[in-house]
Amino acid sequence: MKPKIFVSRATFPAIIDYLSEWFEVRHNQADADYDEAALIEQVRGNHGVFASSTQRFTANLFAACPGLKAVCNMAVGYNNIDVAAASAAGVMVTNTPDVLNETTADFGWTLMMAAARRVSESEHFLRTGGWKRWRFNDFLGVDVYGSTLGIIGMGRIGQAIARRSVGFNMKVIYHNRTRLSPELESAANHASYVSLEDCLRSSDHLILTLPYSPESHHLIGQAQLAMMKPTATLVNIARGGIVDDAALITALKAGTIAAAGIDVFENEPAFNPAFLTLSNVVLTPHIGSASTSTRIAMAYCAADNLIAALTGERPPHLLNPEVLDH
Ligand code: 8YV
Repeated sequence: MKPKIFVSRATFPAIIDYLSEWFEVRHNQADADYDEAALIEQVRGNHGVFASSTQRFTANLFAACPGLKAVCNMAVGYNNIDVAAASAAGVMVTNTPDVLNETTADFGWTLMMAAARRVSESEHFLRTGGWKRWRFNDFLGVDVYGSTLGIIGMGRIGQAIARRSVGFNMKVIYHNRTRLSPELESAANHASYVSLEDCLRSSDHLILTLPYSPESHHLIGQAQLAMMKPTATLVNIARGGIVDDAALITALKAGTIAAAGIDVFENEPAFNPAFLTLSNVVLTPHIGSASTSTRIAMAYCAADNLIAALTGERPPHLLNPEVLDH
C-alpha cells in the first residue's frame, strides 16, 4: 500500500506524475480555495501534504489529522505553518531553501532598480499617451551605481543580493540577528554589520530579506521610515507584515522616502488599495521566485522532502528535527 498524500494547490503536472510513483495522490489541480475547515477535510486521512505557503497549517489542523506525518511546503518561508504544533503532533515540516536564492536575489535587484529609476511610473506615462516631448527633468531618479546598499536579513538570499553589488561598485551594510563570519562577509562584497538604526539611516537602497515572525512584525513602521534618507528606496521581497503598509503609504505620499518596490503585502492577495494611488511604488504580486526553472526546482525539492519523509529517510530540509530525534 502506497502512503496517501494530498497536493493542496495546483502544481506542475509532472510533479503529480512524479509523486504518483511513490504515493496514492489526491490533488487540487482545480486550485480550489479552502478555508481552515475545508483544508482539514482535504488533509484528513493523508500521511503527507505537498503544501503551499498560501495556506495555513494550524494547530487545529494538526489536532484534526491524526495520521499526518509530513507537511512539505513549496516555499522557503514557512510562517504559514504552526511548526510548534506540528512538532507536538509528531508531524515533520520541510521547506525549499537554496534553489530560489539567485532568482529571488535577481528580483530584489529588479525592484530596486525599477523603483530607483521610476520604471513603472514612466512606462505608465508612455502607455497612457503622456509622452509628447522629451524634457530634461522627466522622471529623474536616484543612482544605484556607487551607492550604499542596505540589507536587513542577511541569509542566503540577502547574501546573493550583496554579491551582485560588486559590479555596481556599491558599499554594502547589513543588519541580521547574528553577524556573519568574516568569510561570508567578504564573499558578500565585504558587507559591514551595522545596527538596524544605522542600516536605516545610511542606506541609499534598502532591501528586506528576513523571515516573517512575531518579532519581525512591523519591523519597518513610521519611526523606521522616518530614519531613512528622503532619497532612499525600500524593497520588500520577504513577507507581508514586516512592513507596516499603511505607514509606508504615508511615507511615500509625504516624500519621507523616494520610492519603494513591493512584492509582498499584508493580507495578500488583498492589499491596501491606497498603494494604487501612488506613482512612486512598483507593485508586483509575490513573484520573487517566479522563474520557470526555479519554480520547477522548488516543486521537486518539496516532492523529494515528502518522499524522504514518508519512506523512512530524513528529509533534506527538515525544519523540526525534534520530531525524529527524540
Ligand atoms: C513562494 C516564497 O513562491 O519561498 C517563499 O517563501 O515566498 C515564494 O518563493 C510563495 O511562498 C508561494 O508559495
